Amino acid sequence: MNLQERLTRLLSPMALAVRDKVVLAGVVLTTSSALTLIGFWILEMTSGHPAHPYVGIVIFMILPGVFVAGLLLIPAGLLLRRWRARRGVPVAPLPVDKELLKNAAVLIAGLTVVNVAMMAVATYKGVEYMDSTTFCGLACHQVMSPEYTAYVNSPHSRVACTQCHIGPGAGWFVKSKLSGARQVVAVTLGTYSRPIPSPVHHLRPARETCEACHWPQKFHGDRLVVRSKYGEDEANTATSSVLLMRIGGSQGGGRVGIHGRHFDALSRVRYQTTDDRRQVIPRVIYVGDDGKEVEYAVDGAPPATAGEWREMDCIDCHNRPTHAFDMPESALNRALQAGRIPTDLPFLKREASAAIKAEYMDRDTAAREIVGRITGFYEKNYPEIARARAADVQKAAEGVRDVWMRNVFPDMKLVWGSHPNNIGHEDFPGCFRCHDEEHKAKDGRTITQDCNACHGVLAMEENDPKILADLGLK
Ligand code: HEC
Ligand code: HEC
Ligand code: HEC
Ligand code: HEC
Ligand code: HEC
Repeated sequence: MNLQERLTRLLSPMALAVRDKVVLAGVVLTTSSALTLIGFWILEMTSGHPAHPYVGIVIFMILPGVFVAGLLLIPAGLLLRRWRARRGVPVAPLPVDKELLKNAAVLIAGLTVVNVAMMAVATYKGVEYMDSTTFCGLACHQVMSPEYTAYVNSPHSRVACTQCHIGPGAGWFVKSKLSGARQVVAVTLGTYSRPIPSPVHHLRPARETCEACHWPQKFHGDRLVVRSKYGEDEANTATSSVLLMRIGGSQGGGRVGIHGRHFDALSRVRYQTTDDRRQVIPRVIYVGDDGKEVEYAVDGAPPATAGEWREMDCIDCHNRPTHAFDMPESALNRALQAGRIPTDLPFLKREASAAIKAEYMDRDTAAREIVGRITGFYEKNYPEIARARAADVQKAAEGVRDVWMRNVFPDMKLVWGSHPNNIGHEDFPGCFRCHDEEHKAKDGRTITQDCNACHGVLAMEENDPKILADLGLK
């Protein structure tokens, strides 16, 4: 028997399938979706860049579904045929003989191997896609846009969403897929909250995610932090604070510091909180160096059974490690200090501040009006500067616009201050939720507010601090 004859015999059961409409539909669906899938996979591999989020949904989630549906139609068609024959509905008999059955068995076995391989690749690709930053951040564009925008500009912009939100292991993977399915429904029906609530109550304990990359006991030493503020006078006069943050850690021989005081291999601090943002903390239990527990409570604290008790972990301080939103003044100060906005245009800070605190209908309007407002101010009041330094004025206007765009999302009802940041104590209570000298132990001790406990204060809002020159930073 030559090759051609063998093939014809092997494929002869196919000719049978063609006689049944349902089976035929199944064969066509499976074959066409399989070919399309393989085509896209090759395209994706060779083009080197990930698919557009919506194209991704089609390739990685819808097409594999069509493929499976087609496969299921084939036996369904055959069963339906038998069922109808039994009920006495006249069906054209299929010319089945022994030879044909043998060929059918070989064909089915062969195709099953191919199908299992296809499904394995499709499942793998689907999961990989659903875990990608493109899918998490962009597929439901409007919903995730505040978190995604902040993320792209953060120290973690190269860390995948799932590395913090799911982490390693199968258990959390399944949990996240189940809650993900619920979220897809909420997005489809438009029933999600705006803004998306924070804290995330079912976030995986941070020590299982963050510590895959950071090992805080190992931190040691201090970190120099310079924070500048700009005045609303004509010269935008700057004052700077220079702080040595006592980062610390419990190993490495350095001071115990910020990290080591709140946890070691285990957490050392538990607290009671009575609001859903975890901003009100009436009671704190601390495990001292001697292993004994001390309870600190404010006067008139509610009973210990009220509210929620929580073991302190990374995100009780670093609650915005990657989706950090600022208050208007701090956001502007940072942009000015980083040089994203020129500091030598008259009254820039005052004008910028007014421009970003105004309300705008939507993001497009804001983007247009903020730039117009800043350039307009110089054209009207400083025509000389507007002409001679047009590029700087434009850069300033765009810098101010970007500060707003990074922090305000009217369609998600996310405005200045929607998400408090717990690192620090200037814009939000932060560390002072506990470190306020109001939390007292039975023996009268308090949780300290000593300025030098958390940071050495090398300069406090000084004009041109000498320490910066001494350190060679100016
Ligand atoms: C470095 C770790 C990290 C990465 C990377 C990360 N997140 Fe988050 N995310 C967090 C933490 C921590 C919170 C809030 C924790 C809290 O207070 O409960 C959060 C909160 C959120 C929230 C709840 C609303 C809010 O603003 O608090 C959404 C939505 C979210 N993240 C989406 C994303 C998306 C989408 C990505 C990827 C584009 C991403 N996250 C990447 C750590 C991360
Ligand atoms: C997959 C690895 C990874 C994970 C998981 C991760 N980070 Fe990071 N983190 C990084 C990298 C990389 C940087 C940037 C380091 C740099 O810029 O020197 C960073 C920087 C930081 C910084 C310093 C930011 C700054 O301003 O310098 C903090 C704080 C931080 N991470 C906290 C967290 C917290 C909290 C979590 C868990 C919610 C977390 N990280 C999870 C990799 C990770
Ligand atoms: C009590 C609050 C608190 C807790 C809890 C905490 N941190 Fe920090 N962490 C800080 C402060 C404050 C800084 C210094 C911030 C700065 O310099 O602006 C810091 C700095 C860092 C840095 C940057 C270090 C450097 O040298 O630049 C990383 C990374 C970090 N923390 C990770 C973590 C991780 C991971 C956890 C949880 C295992 C954690 N932190 C728990 C308060 C905390
Ligand atoms: C949930 C309450 C809570 C929060 C929030 C909190 N701390 Fe603490 N902190 C404590 C307790 C409790 C102690 C130990 C008090 C004692 O020594 O008995 C402590 C001790 C410290 C110490 C050691 C002080 C000393 O005298 O040696 C430092 C430093 C510190 N915290 C920094 C911070 C920083 C920085 C933040 C904010 C990023 C912060 N803490 C937020 C509860 C808190
Ligand atoms: C419980 C710890 C803690 C205590 C106590 C504390 N600070 Fe801070 N402070 C911080 C942290 C954390 C930051 C944030 C550092 C950063 O922005 O990176 C900060 C930031 C600052 C800043 C810079 C703010 C900015 O953005 O311009 C100043 C100024 C400051 N502290 C002054 C003080 C003074 C004065 C005291 C004493 C009344 C004090 N702090 C007590 C933890 C503390």
